[in-house]
Amino acid sequence: MPTAVITGASAGLGRALATGLAHRGWNLVIDARRPDRLAQVAGELSRLCQLRAIAGDVGDAEHRRRLAGAVAEFGSLDLLVNNASTLGPTPLPPLAELDVDQLTDILRVNLVAPLALVQLSLPALTAAGGLVVNLSSDAAVAHYPGWGGYGCAKAALDHLSATLAEENPQLRWYSFDPGDMRTEMHQAAFPGEDISDRPEPESVLPALLRLIDSRPPSGRYTSASPELAHAVPEVAR
Ligand SMILES: NC(=O)c1ccc[n+]([C@@H]2O[C@H](COP(=O)([O-])OP(=O)(O)OC[C@H]3O[C@@H](n4cnc5c(N)ncnc54)[C@H](OP(=O)(O)O)[C@@H]3O)[C@@H](O)[C@H]2O)c1
Repeated sequence: MPTAVITGASAGLGRALATGLAHRGWNLVIDARRPDRLAQVAGELSRLCQLRAIAGDVGDAEHRRRLAGAVAEFGSLDLLVNNASTLGPTPLPPLAELDVDQLTDILRVNLVAPLALVQLSLPALTAAGGLVVNLSSDAAVAHYPGWGGYGCAKAALDHLSATLAEENPQLRWYSFDPGDMRTEMHQAAFPGEDISDRPEPESVLPALLRLIDSRPPSGRYTSASPELAHAVPEVAR
């Protein structure tokens, strides 16, 4: 069975993807910081697949080494999904007021950690001819007041993905923008607002699975990219 590492898999999109791949029988290595929620998801999914759940912060180098060590138990690595992410302080402050130490934390989690995991995983990914999905955001390409810290980290992550694709053309490298989703992170970005009109993260799963299955050319995709649309059945004439 193929093996995937998914960071931040105890909630939101990471959990939805882990669940989708578990139903296919993939081997999974997953993490999140809060052990209770991670253990609950691990308990559910371990009935469906081989799974290692390791609680920790992707910003922590020792934790990342433990993730890589768990992959070694499975052999090669078919898919790395850098999904765990932070907004930084909320309510989202304008850049003029963003504490630079907090910006360093955003970059450590959203940018440095994904590259570090790529570096640790490259031999196992190469052995499998695997693919990497780095979760992006429209805040990487648009410029919203308050989103500058998070957005610049996601823009830089897009840049890393594109450069890694040039340097390692034997693999596939994707930036994937899922669009707005009704999750804890999204609620934190809009404190006190009703976000019930945003789609559930499960609604993004078909596009993400299509990206993984169809392996289009490396690049930046969104959940609305035509390449990831469901095949539309021909209308009977
Ligand atoms: N939601 C949106 O509208 C939206 C839009 C565009 C892009 N995105 C991107 O989509 C991805 C998933 O977002 P989401 O909304 O699904 O998030 P979410 O529901 O808030 O879930 C985040 C997951 O990551 C874990 N996590 C957070 N920080 C972590 C860290 N430092 N180390 C390890 N695990 C960590 C969380 O568990 P713990 O808190 O226990 O660690 C949780 O399992 C992110 O990359 C986000 O930037 C989201």
